[in-house]
Amino acid sequence: MIALVVLCLVLLVCWFRRKRSRNDILNYPPGPKPWPIIGSLHLLGQHSSPFEAFTVLSRIYGNIFSINLGSTPCVVVNNLDLIKEVLITKGGDFDSRPDFIRFHMLFGGNRNNSLALCDWSDLQKTRRSIARTYCSPRFTSLQYDMVANVGTDEITTFLHEIQKLPVNTPINIKPLVLKACANMFTQYMCSTSFSYDDEEFRKVVRYFDEIFWEINQGYAVDFLPWLLPFYKNHMKKISHWSSEIRQFILGRIIDDHRATLDYNSPPRDFTDALLMHLEEDPNMNWQHIIFELEDFIGGHSAVGNLVMMTLVSLIQHPHVAKRVQKEVDEITANSRAPSLLDKSMMPYTEAVIWETLRKASSPIVPHVSSTDTELFGFNIPKGTMIFINNYDLNVSSDYWENPNEFIPERFLSASGNVVKPNHFIPFSTGKRTCIGQRLVQCFSFIILATLLQKYDLTAEGKIDVKPGCVAVPPDCFKVILSPRSS
Ligand code: HEM
Repeated sequence: MIALVVLCLVLLVCWFRRKRSRNDILNYPPGPKPWPIIGSLHLLGQHSSPFEAFTVLSRIYGNIFSINLGSTPCVVVNNLDLIKEVLITKGGDFDSRPDFIRFHMLFGGNRNNSLALCDWSDLQKTRRSIARTYCSPRFTSLQYDMVANVGTDEITTFLHEIQKLPVNTPINIKPLVLKACANMFTQYMCSTSFSYDDEEFRKVVRYFDEIFWEINQGYAVDFLPWLLPFYKNHMKKISHWSSEIRQFILGRIIDDHRATLDYNSPPRDFTDALLMHLEEDPNMNWQHIIFELEDFIGGHSAVGNLVMMTLVSLIQHPHVAKRVQKEVDEITANSRAPSLLDKSMMPYTEAVIWETLRKASSPIVPHVSSTDTELFGFNIPKGTMIFINNYDLNVSSDYWENPNEFIPERFLSASGNVVKPNHFIPFSTGKRTCIGQRLVQCFSFIILATLLQKYDLTAEGKIDVKPGCVAVPPDCFKVILSPRSS
């Protein structure tokens, strides 16, 4: 009891000192008055997603406002000009990431091992540049052809596995979708794939998915680190997932690769490129290689979850599914499977994926100011967490007609080509923009076009998805697949 009282007193003193120091800053953005200890965390709890809360608060305090979450000073930016200022014009001043304990737990005790959760550094610049060729393949490149071939091969296995499941009855399709995505990634990046019956593979795919869900959640301990003792088991669980994944990647992927690597030939794949770089660059070490590969293989969970979200869109809007089916039938003349090479001729299907991303409105990982700086005349001290409210960009009637409706056509020009407005930035923009977006577009397209070519999709009852999130829970809704009737 005495310890608790002392702890509360210490926290109160810290809070008052911090409050005074933030109030001392001239021209700090306005915002709600924080409560002791929890700051304004209670304001977020009143909404279905924190970004919805930010949108509501922006109507009161303006497009740039400050908010204390626990003891963390944060600033939220809500319109396109401000967002571009943070991500592009002053990208160098806002290139760090939050220092959440969970992020450290997920990456071997140090979040700087992760490409997405690290602060900016020369190492990060190198890691991004090695990844670019493979994870952002250009349309006419050798790598793009590899993506197409890998997609076509894996989809044959995927369909074969799907055909083992009963039709016209609810099935748990997510594990299969994730395994297909995982094999596409490991085949493309490591020239290795795994049997769907492989127990270790099944477990690791599940752990990756758990981690993807985890990263997409917010926890009180992120902002109130003194709650850590209450999260001991949770932290143990997430570091267990990541160490199992690491062992799998080492034992089942890298060891083999090293044994067959020929330093005198061009790299066979991303894993070769990483291993070769290790020899050439004294600033890279073994840990960097493992974590980089793990990060990128983990991208398959993002693709799998986006596919699941798109299935929800299609189930909820059968007329949209019918139009995708018509497009795929026309392109393949019903005589072959769709492939990545059909994508440029199937703009509607692509537009369905964009519209799903818009509606899902996946948050941009928060940035943190790496120096004292200024934003639209407001002073922003080093270490301020910056929330980029792209939810507002995606759902505001200032930017979209009928924003609550699911209308893929909004991404099509009058001549039927895919067009993306400047204010649509699901993969962010600037210095820390997503490196995996081309892989997302390619692999999700192949899976969805193939499924729709063969099946009508329905579900039992209503499917609820969390707003402001592209992740669906590891154990989620079931889907009914019925062989195409028309
Ligand atoms: C639905 C799928 C995906 C979405 C919506 C998405 C979106 C994003 C967003 C919003 C960011 C933050 C950018 C910023 O902070 O400014 C990001 C970062 C990143 N993404 Fe993705 N992403 C997806 C899939 C992938 C995949 C498949 C990969 C890997 C193959 C990937 C690799 C990365 C990396 C490495 C970063 C960190 C870049 C950095 O901080 O320097 N992403 N992504």
